[in-house]
Amino acid sequence: MAKLTLQPGLAGHRISPMIYGHFIEHLGGCVYGGIWAGQRSSIPNTDGLRDDVVEALRRVRPPVLRWPGGCFADDYCWRDGVGLRGQRPRRVNIHWGQIVETNEFGTDDFIRLCRATGAEPYICGNVGSGSPRELRDWVEYCNQPAGTAQSEMRVANGSAQPFAVRFWGIGNENWGCGGNMTPEYYGDLYRRFATYTAAFGGTRPFRIACGPSGHDTDWTRRLLHRLFRDYRSGPGVEGLAAHYYCGGAGAATQFSEAQWYGLLHNAAFIETLITEQRALMDEFDPERRIKLVVDEWGAWHEGLPAEDLPLLWQQNTVRDALVAALTLDIFNRHADSVFMANLAQTVNVLQSLILTDGPRMVLTPTFYVYEMYADHQGGQSVPLRLESDEVSFEGAEGPRTIPCLAASASRKETALTVTLTNAHAREAREVEIVLKDARVAEVQAQVLRGGAIQAHNTFDEPREVMPRPARAPEGAGELSVTLAPASVTKLAMKLS
Ligand code: AHR
Repeated sequence: MAKLTLQPGLAGHRISPMIYGHFIEHLGGCVYGGIWAGQRSSIPNTDGLRDDVVEALRRVRPPVLRWPGGCFADDYCWRDGVGLRGQRPRRVNIHWGQIVETNEFGTDDFIRLCRATGAEPYICGNVGSGSPRELRDWVEYCNQPAGTAQSEMRVANGSAQPFAVRFWGIGNENWGCGGNMTPEYYGDLYRRFATYTAAFGGTRPFRIACGPSGHDTDWTRRLLHRLFRDYRSGPGVEGLAAHYYCGGAGAATQFSEAQWYGLLHNAAFIETLITEQRALMDEFDPERRIKLVVDEWGAWHEGLPAEDLPLLWQQNTVRDALVAALTLDIFNRHADSVFMANLAQTVNVLQSLILTDGPRMVLTPTFYVYEMYADHQGGQSVPLRLESDEVSFEGAEGPRTIPCLAASASRKETALTVTLTNAHAREAREVEIVLKDARVAEVQAQVLRGGAIQAHNTFDEPREVMPRPARAPEGAGELSVTLAPASVTKLAMKLS
């Protein structure tokens, strides 16, 4: 039998709520048709924002939303997206399908979305094709209360109150779509752009530098060297952004059992990325003033969707739910190292929470994981030891194994939240849960699983994969729980 030993009495690090963040980009159906219906749409909306999507997002308590990209960010002119909608310039979205961007959705709408969903805004600036002046003015537009050209423009556009945007990305993937730079060249530009990303209206910017693709340590080492060692003054960097897409094993809804394991194996690799990147950052920043931000992550399936579907649209199965759950468990367990993370992308793109089709909307298995895991936000990470068997499978690069089970736990006063995944595709696992120096007064259990490992929700069958109440384990200091195959379980405990 597997065993999970928890030590609720030992206060671990606080789980930053920001690791439950999301990302929206002007790409495919994410903004237009996803977040945005438009003010004249027959789809119920509030000043253009889809009511159904906003309401759904509120359920997962999004702490932060990143916008406008992605690759799109490094070719975005923010002034195009403010002011009278009818007069906004149209531009070609050079990264995503060469479609014409109408700029109907812009900064003021993004802030309204954040306010409506309770999220903090995180704006990614344009380093690739933009200038420090443009970025500086954008920050002033957002954060200066009044009395300057930029702030008066915001007031004239209907927002008397400043937006107090704290999080600013200084470019995105500048090793690739954000300008194809070397770490040294980007480091020089970073310092220049960051200098002018100033504090306006008392809001100190939290500036996020472009970090590696995956676990590329060469980019991080060379960039940090440039930022910290080649200049005399401090670099003014608060965050370093890593991106990690786990693939890719079979198609979104068509995959073998080996591919099921293959994707979960790749997803779990993010733990190596976190420990390697943080260790490298510690060499340059032992006091951990710079936070690790994983501002794009998720599954990116192979195989193009049908032609009439928007770019990077993909279905989302119980396998994606396990990718999300496993990854969030890793973030929770590494609460000392990860400050923020943003799943890519909220609606209709890659591993989304929500899919829309005209007026219809469906919540994905990944959505439900975020809803189940929301109680971890801001809790103290609880130290744990998990003894689990492994599953062997034939991966794309030869035989591999993954642990059958994964878990994380957090505590808020007497509330203990434990989340567990069983990656075994066909077999249940019984787990003995042992609480050191604590006793349980009450437990509620919820389980998310599907009839098959490819199970997913559709517009016609929207309730195929969703959490359902389960029999709660009994006991006070030792409890035994059976985890269904291919499932995610949440135990909400009250400690006595
Ligand atoms: O999320 C899709 C794209 O993936 C983003 O635009 C880019 O940053 C990454 O390569």
